[in-house]
Amino acid sequence: MLKSPVLKELEKIVGRTNLFTDAEELVVYSYDATRQESLPWAVARPATAREVSDIILLANRERFPVVPRGAGTGMSGGSVPASGGLVLSFERMNRILEIDVQNRMAVAEPGVITGDLQAEVEARRLFYPPDPASHQFCTLGGNVAECAGGLRAVKYGVTRDYILGLEVVLPTGEIIETGARTLKSVAGYDLTRLIVGSEGTLGVVTKIIVKLLPLPESIQTLAAYFPDIRSAAQAVATITASAIVPRALELIDGGALRAVENYLKQDISHGSGAMLLVEVDGPLAVSASEIETLERICREAGAAMVKRATNKVEQDQLWKIRRSISPALYTIKPRKINEDIVVPPSRVPDIIAEVQEIAKRYGLLIVTFGHAGDGNIHVNILIEDEELPIAEKTVKEVFAAVVRMEGSISGEHGIGLSKASYLPMEVGKHALEAMKKIKRALDPNNILNPGKIFLNAECGVRSAE
Ligand code: MLT
Ligand code: ZN
Repeated sequence: MLKSPVLKELEKIVGRTNLFTDAEELVVYSYDATRQESLPWAVARPATAREVSDIILLANRERFPVVPRGAGTGMSGGSVPASGGLVLSFERMNRILEIDVQNRMAVAEPGVITGDLQAEVEARRLFYPPDPASHQFCTLGGNVAECAGGLRAVKYGVTRDYILGLEVVLPTGEIIETGARTLKSVAGYDLTRLIVGSEGTLGVVTKIIVKLLPLPESIQTLAAYFPDIRSAAQAVATITASAIVPRALELIDGGALRAVENYLKQDISHGSGAMLLVEVDGPLAVSASEIETLERICREAGAAMVKRATNKVEQDQLWKIRRSISPALYTIKPRKINEDIVVPPSRVPDIIAEVQEIAKRYGLLIVTFGHAGDGNIHVNILIEDEELPIAEKTVKEVFAAVVRMEGSISGEHGIGLSKASYLPMEVGKHALEAMKKIKRALDPNNILNPGKIFLNAECGVRSAE
């Protein structure tokens, strides 16, 4: 709990109207998209890096946890205040500060909604490629914290590939700038890359410089309907081995299709057992010929039907199916364990077969979908509460298979709370110790987002609450 003199100091920093302590307000900041929840002791809504810095200095003096939070759309409990403490909410730091058309860069505060930045730059014929499925709600700061990926990562990469520089408040209160407003910089250690994906454990991001691309001239989208997931996965392997790099190559299995059908009350699967959504972009002549080839590959792999979107409305309808999967799956069972494993693209058919075998063996309902083009598959285990212990065993087996295939247990959601106990399965002892040394060096009192990435006890120094 925060004592009243500390609350008074916080109030002085952010102003009375930007400090919440009432239970009904705290609930709003207690959970993320995993539905894990834990009440914070208070919530502050800073407006500047200076205010963030003052809060962090206070947190070190009084030793209370600080948990940065964007929109709470995360998928690994990264913004859940698991040890209580103060949530720092960035809803007031939500301005796009600059769009530099000439140099193709933008500068934004962490609370900007990703979809708003995408729309603003597209109005200037520029393009911000990272595209998490939750782009209409998630924030840029959250994307930076988790190094979000999304639908276009197969061609364009993930958030870290577009971050040129950051303003960061360190866990000891200093405000630093990392990177540069240039496309290249090798001046010293790459602190930008260290902070991106550090899940709010190494610093609080207060300003973000992103790189932009020219807006592609054309986009072509197709949906291919397969009798089963095996043939769809085979088409993925053929496409990823071809000379074409689609900007999206998404796989949706039969279970996910049926869930979305129930959710949207529409026939979207046309009786198929799996679907691929494939999108290419670039000069019209190139995208038109690439989509032809991709259609042929899908048909040869066994697609019974291929539908091409002929205009933007049809494209949006196809992507609405994809973006509806996550909410749709919550209507099937009360609990959903959502993993974001990633394997080398050629192993997609293998990992899918292995997951199916594991599901059968444990008698659990597992749905798979996701960014198959870059090998990043969302394995969703749908369970009743009492099935949790068996689901955890299942997760361990899936992760073991992933590591065997030289993959990673998290492609884009981060380790957060959900995967902290599994991280050692992938990361070797010495590498893990190196990570903890970085954490301890930057955050000696373990005040910043404790219990994320590493189990709390492993980095804990905090006392004096
Ligand atoms: C997605 O790609 O849809 C998200 O990363 C995962 C999810 O929403 O389940
Ligand atoms: Zn995803």
